[in-house]
Amino acid sequence: MSELIGMAGHMGESTKSKRAEIGDDERDIIPRDFRFDIPGNATRNWFAGDIAKTSMIDAMSIFLPEGERFFIRSLKHYSGKLKDKALSKEINGYAVQEAFHTREHEDYNRAIASLGYDVAEMERPIGQALGLLKNPLYRLAATCAIEHLTASFSSALLRRPHLMDGAHPAYRRLWMWHALEELEHKAVALDVLNAATKDISSFKRYWLRVWAMNAVLAPFLLIFLRNVRIYVRADGVKPGFRFWAKFFWANFGKPGLLRHTAAPLLRYYTPWFDPRNGDDSKLIARGREWLDREFRPVARSRAEPPSGAVAAAG
Ligand SMILES: [Fe+2]
Ligand SMILES: [Fe+2]
Repeated sequence: MSELIGMAGHMGESTKSKRAEIGDDERDIIPRDFRFDIPGNATRNWFAGDIAKTSMIDAMSIFLPEGERFFIRSLKHYSGKLKDKALSKEINGYAVQEAFHTREHEDYNRAIASLGYDVAEMERPIGQALGLLKNPLYRLAATCAIEHLTASFSSALLRRPHLMDGAHPAYRRLWMWHALEELEHKAVALDVLNAATKDISSFKRYWLRVWAMNAVLAPFLLIFLRNVRIYVRADGVKPGFRFWAKFFWANFGKPGLLRHTAAPLLRYYTPWFDPRNGDDSKLIARGREWLDREFRPVARSRAEPPSGAVAAAG
């Protein structure tokens, strides 16, 4: 991973000529070496003082370091084999973005552990579940499915930033940055799948996609709910009817982050699904401008003597 992170400096240079971190094309994949110092901002119930909202988002972070390393490996496997320079470049941009996400979510999860939650126990079934997939093509198809899941979540969040009202600024900033980059690279895994399966019929490719999404969703939901249960217990909350009613209302009622994720998620099941068909260009442009505004003060403070950066800006 350190190799990938090292490449970011080079990739960042190529973007400097076009308005630094902002980017001017929806298809630009721009790795941003940003740090969010979640350990320095570790806060119990950081999301509006609400255990239902905080446990839901923190339970997602638990998946990410292991998951994103899996995605990088799945795509890198095909990088040399496909002999397509443009696609290899896309894979590299993708891998560097995901490597930075991994680094920040490792820090994030360390912060969760520092507050007394059993992160190792929550992470345990994730590695086990991903380890069951041995075939490179199945691993790639699973990566496509999870990438679409994260792109759907990201689109819901960037379209409705008020869904994170009341969140601690450092956590909010990290999730918005992550959401933007997920949208920037939302098509890469599927581009690789299409290239890797160009000799099979589109009907078979469609069923491979659908099979992978179904194979991913069921264990994801089981592990996710199991981890929320472990998480809230550590907070002294009994995960009984009262808690789950509150949890489901927060996610599927109001503010309803998962409700807003469901519609874009289901588009994956259409045979004609193409992540580039949904026009996210305005959303990505807005996200980049937001990020630029958020990080300009941090960049300025770094230009003087380097300091604790993001925490200071929050
Ligand atoms: Fe990511
Ligand atoms: Fe991703």
